[in-house]
Amino acid sequence: MLHAIRYYVNPKMALSFIEDELEQLKRASLYRRLRLIEGEQGPVVMLDGQEVLNFCSNNYLGLANHPALREAAKKAIDRYGCGSGASRLISGNMTLHEELERKIAELKGTEAALVFNSGFQANTGILATLVGEGDVIFSDALNHASIIDGCRLSRAKIVVYGHCDLDQLDRGLRDSPGKNRKLIVTESLFSMDGDEAPLAEIVELAEKYGAVVMVDEAHATGVFEPNGAGLVAKLGIGDRVLVQMGTLGKALGGFGAYVAGSHSLRDMLINRCRSFIFTTSLPPAVMAMAIAALDLVTKEPERRQALRNNCELLQAGLKSLGYTLGNSRSQILPLMIGDAAQCMKLSDDLLRHGVFAQGIRPPTVPPGTSRLRVTLMATHRPEHIEEALRVFKEIAQEPKIEDGR
Ligand SMILES: Cc1ncc(COP(=O)(O)O)c(C=O)c1O
Repeated sequence: MLHAIRYYVNPKMALSFIEDELEQLKRASLYRRLRLIEGEQGPVVMLDGQEVLNFCSNNYLGLANHPALREAAKKAIDRYGCGSGASRLISGNMTLHEELERKIAELKGTEAALVFNSGFQANTGILATLVGEGDVIFSDALNHASIIDGCRLSRAKIVVYGHCDLDQLDRGLRDSPGKNRKLIVTESLFSMDGDEAPLAEIVELAEKYGAVVMVDEAHATGVFEPNGAGLVAKLGIGDRVLVQMGTLGKALGGFGAYVAGSHSLRDMLINRCRSFIFTTSLPPAVMAMAIAALDLVTKEPERRQALRNNCELLQAGLKSLGYTLGNSRSQILPLMIGDAAQCMKLSDDLLRHGVFAQGIRPPTVPPGTSRLRVTLMATHRPEHIEEALRVFKEIAQEPKIEDGR
């Protein structure tokens, strides 16, 4: 027999901590809200009903709305339908998954590749598969949240070394003797600072101490010469970086992620990686877009050249206005502000003048390092950049920004 449940406390009270936490975020200038883009992604977008110049997209090569990707997606839907229906190991492994993996391996010059549903899933899953309790991970202090969560999920000991600090990494490796596995994980082009990891030196250290190197090429895939394969390939150290991860949703304009490496790495992940095994595989249209994007990346180096030209133009202009840009020489320009409230104020001021550049605050970046993360696309035209610089200058002349310049 069912008994009536008697509530002693209003059940809604149990969630009252949410209101408290949101209030705290607002007071600390750390509250976030979603902004709405209507229409396509591009250098000019409709944002919350206002036409603005877009300087905060990872669509670095402008492929997110390229006709070849649209066409490939449409054809894939016509031929293979919409959904994959299951995870790869059940019945969701389709022709296009394997075709894409062959293409990625070819681009990266590796034996094999494996596609993941997102970069976040790739990083968490790969790290938790390759190391475990009793092992040690050495992780750059500015690594992406997905790497940090992967480290935690693995239950290995985590040694965080200072950003690109080779001495600290060396000491950490030296102080971790033993037969346990050691893995060094770093981004190649850092997502929030736009600077490059010293990969050649990291590989040297790894070899000295018998560690595996895993590199996240999320922001490098598609943008580095010679063929868009990433920074590892540019440095010619592909045979020494055994785990190369990257994403399909940034320069490649679509969605998803990959890991490139040996046949046995692929096999191991297929057998053990929980974020690969226990999820429905990406649909055919997404695979087809990525295949089309890879073709463009290799056949149209002029896109990378256009991106580089745009970077040089904006960097030079911002520097001449007195902004501090950190060590970036890439398409990611961090305009260092420091204080979260001032950073968001600058972002809002720019937006009022039609320039969309997102403020980045803790916890995405360490406290006291809030910045505007300004990113470029190959499809920005010189007049877009000139207009942005005009606005930066105009705002700089308004007597409100006290810091960061
Ligand atoms: C360095 C880095 N790794 C991984 C990811 C996650 O990739 P995805 O967006 O495909 O989940 C991102 C995305 O923001 C990133 O910046």
